[in-house]
Amino acid sequence: MAQQGTSDVLDPTPAAAPRPGRAPSVEPDGGATLLAWAARMREEQRAWRDDSGHVHVFRHADVQQVLSDPATFSSDTVGRLSGGEKKAPRGTLLLLDPPLHGKMRRLVSKAFTPGLIAGLEPWITELTGELLDAVTGDRFDLVDALANPLPVTVIARMLGVPTQDRELFQGWADQLLSTDPEDPESVRRMEETAVTITAYLQGFIEARREEPRADLLGTLVGAEVDGERLEDEDIASFATLLLLAGHITTSVLVGNALICLDSDPDLLAKVRADRSLIPAVIEETLRLRPPFTRIERVTTTTTTVAGLEVGPDTLVHLWLLAANRDERVFEAPDAFRPDRANARQAAFGHGIHYCIGAPLARLEGRIALEALLDRFTGIRVDPTVRLSWHGTNVFGARHLPLCVERA
Ligand code: HEM
Repeated sequence: MAQQGTSDVLDPTPAAAPRPGRAPSVEPDGGATLLAWAARMREEQRAWRDDSGHVHVFRHADVQQVLSDPATFSSDTVGRLSGGEKKAPRGTLLLLDPPLHGKMRRLVSKAFTPGLIAGLEPWITELTGELLDAVTGDRFDLVDALANPLPVTVIARMLGVPTQDRELFQGWADQLLSTDPEDPESVRRMEETAVTITAYLQGFIEARREEPRADLLGTLVGAEVDGERLEDEDIASFATLLLLAGHITTSVLVGNALICLDSDPDLLAKVRADRSLIPAVIEETLRLRPPFTRIERVTTTTTTVAGLEVGPDTLVHLWLLAANRDERVFEAPDAFRPDRANARQAAFGHGIHYCIGAPLARLEGRIALEALLDRFTGIRVDPTVRLSWHGTNVFGARHLPLCVERA
């Protein structure tokens, strides 16, 4: 494919200046301010302490180094930052450290083997077709029609709960996602949602205790860690994690791929003519617009982070968005070039917590793009609608209005 460099699609409206001492948000300008800030920080301040004392890291090598050292940089942000008062349930893989993390990850990875994920392809293709069948007319919102329901339904099916309940899941996922950790009321609502999810799953968990089944809930019900069965809360917390980690990320990936292709009509035409280019488009979308802008770790001891000495129990924000545009690793990093070598893109993290759902997300992204290109002879992001964006942690549009043409 030719080297088609295109700049990002960003809202040209100037954003309100970010509060000094705080990182800017993706809102209100689609990330223009955030990207400019991250680029400047990457060059001028390898590590930066914000006004809450949190440390931010921007360069690819520094992000990788932190993620490669789980003994010094713990994932247990909940436990450590609450002074041990709170404890992450055992299903919350993302918040666990070794050795428990490895034990839980081995357990759940049984549901994410390449063979099992590839085996989902026919069903995901059918589901995608059904969702697009419901679209009428020549304008629709990609997020409502496809990007949101697709990953939510896939997670429901993997767990083994009725896929018709996806609207319930969707509501919970939205609620979990809107949590602001600094607002006690919002944290209380998140805890309430976790209780609701546990109550919903209870019946399914009990049914599997009576009659084993091969779905993910069944696997977890039958599993033992250190000779002990998992508690219902542990199992429910894993389901909640999947909703949080696997839903909005995949949804935003589909939307971001459309945004990237929309900015380069020649490239879109090439991909339409040669569908084998789709995986490279997905990968470059993940690099340029990683769904999670950043992830967090907390120090276990006094250490040096990107040249800055920090004490124990310091929250460290690792900017995947900045690492993925580090010119030390990616040439012309702001250009969308699916033909570049981007195996080092960091959208799925790195090290022991590397995204377990990455093959599934790539599969869903590919199927979604293929289905859209099959069905519509023309696809454009509606230029008349101003896009609204997620907040700091998620890099993507809340809604993506498309104008389409059919054969
Ligand atoms: C484009 C889509 C996705 C992106 C960008 C993404 C991103 C990530 C990242 C960055 C991490 C590492 C977090 C850390 O180290 O703190 C992660 C972990 C994880 N992801 Fe994904 N994810 C995606 C899709 C999925 C899907 C579809 C699932 C499952 C249905 C999933 C399940 C998980 C789980 C369970 C973990 C925790 C793994 C561990 O701690 O060992 N993700 N994801």
